[in-house]
Amino acid sequence: MNWWTELALTERAEMKSSGYAAGSLLTVADLSVPEVVAILAATDRIERMASADRVRMLAGRRIALLFYESSTRTRTSFELAAKSLGAITTLVSDKSSSIEKGESLKDTGLTLRALGAECIILRHPSSGAPYLLAKATGLPVLNAGDGMHEHPSQALLDLRTILTRLHGVDAGRGNSKIDGKTLQGVTVVITGDILHSRVARSNALLLPKLGARVLLCGPKELLPEDALGLGSGVNTSSVEIERDFDKALKKSQVAMMLRIQRERLAGLELDLGDYISRYQLNEERLAACAPKALVMHPGPMIRGLEIAGEVADGPNSAIEEQVRHGLAVRKTLLVRALGVGGFESVTV
Ligand code: CP
Repeated sequence: MNWWTELALTERAEMKSSGYAAGSLLTVADLSVPEVVAILAATDRIERMASADRVRMLAGRRIALLFYESSTRTRTSFELAAKSLGAITTLVSDKSSSIEKGESLKDTGLTLRALGAECIILRHPSSGAPYLLAKATGLPVLNAGDGMHEHPSQALLDLRTILTRLHGVDAGRGNSKIDGKTLQGVTVVITGDILHSRVARSNALLLPKLGARVLLCGPKELLPEDALGLGSGVNTSSVEIERDFDKALKKSQVAMMLRIQRERLAGLELDLGDYISRYQLNEERLAACAPKALVMHPGPMIRGLEIAGEVADGPNSAIEEQVRHGLAVRKTLLVRALGVGGFESVTV
């Protein structure tokens, strides 16, 4: 039995006991370090495959994209990833479906299953919605962002971006050396609207698994003290709060900026002018505090608010690379979700 099959079987046994279909990805908390390494290694392998081989991997398999919130990157990359593997995709959006007429998440999921969907990718404004859908349908569900809870595929693509830029671990080099210590000595500052951020939560759970230290940075309105619980279950000492952005940057190799979510600011006393002066990542601040730092942003970004346009377009920026890694990682998550047999035997 090879490593992939072994991992898949272990995972399937665990998922069976949890009541969710094998191959689901609902939270990064469910991923062990060997599973993270396996996903990264499989991503490298799939990226190195000839497209004619890749397109056979999920040929004819049916994947539904169920989106209750707007998305550009996640939706498009999952769809393109599925198509590059030969799968058939369908998109159901809350704006143009019977969801508008009041159909429930459960009934929408059961309808998609009755139509032959074998896997559902769900984005939903309510935290925990992917669990409900996975339980109701018994299908593998990939969480594409649920409320203020998690965005697992984003954290995995962020991890691959960091590993590639900082350690040169990418296609062709393999991931055999990646383990729970690979990111020891690396500090990632996540700055902005931590309170509402599923990206921050998934990264704070995932990055410490590989040894990284995570600094959370922002004003108290957007970063309550109890945000320290974000990393719980991993290594609590590896997630810290540093409210002074300049100090945080000086300690960091990676600066991950988060969008200020205007739609979620109602009721919060946040002075945007003050926020920009204290927390915007601009050229001056980057040059003074962390001239070599890798600059990341999950998108969508608001230029001139949390990040200056010159930094987003500058040499430190990995923002477009993140998008490309997203396409790559999501191919693997689809292959994993559909439990493709013989995956490992494909010559790469
Ligand atoms: N990063 C991210 O989730 O972007 P989208 O909302 O465009 O999918």
